Amino acid sequence: MFGVISFYSYFTTEPRGKYVINVCLGTACFVRGADAIMREFEKILNIKAGETTEDKKFTLSGLRCIGACGLAPVVMVNDKVYGRVELNQVKAIIEEYQEEA
Ligand code: FES
Repeated sequence: MFGVISFYSYFTTEPRGKYVINVCLGTACFVRGADAIMREFEKILNIKAGETTEDKKFTLSGLRCIGACGLAPVVMVNDKVYGRVELNQVKAIIEEYQEEA
């Protein structure tokens, strides 16, 4: 698991998008499928963790525990926290921001 965390935090020098999506990869979130959530974001946004979409709208990143383990798995978009995120909600979260002008 620590290998995974350092893998994701390795990419920190890229320019950031307007919305920074942070998937918590702390222990509680990880055991509840945070890595699958991360992969779903990667698939839909067509970028890898640590990268930014071409239109500079989204940056995808991983975080260590943000202290909301009771809500695991947790995703943050800028300052907004999403708890108990399920795989099939990932697309809706992205769309919420894509529709904003
Ligand atoms: S492990 Fe994700 S909030 Fe604690």
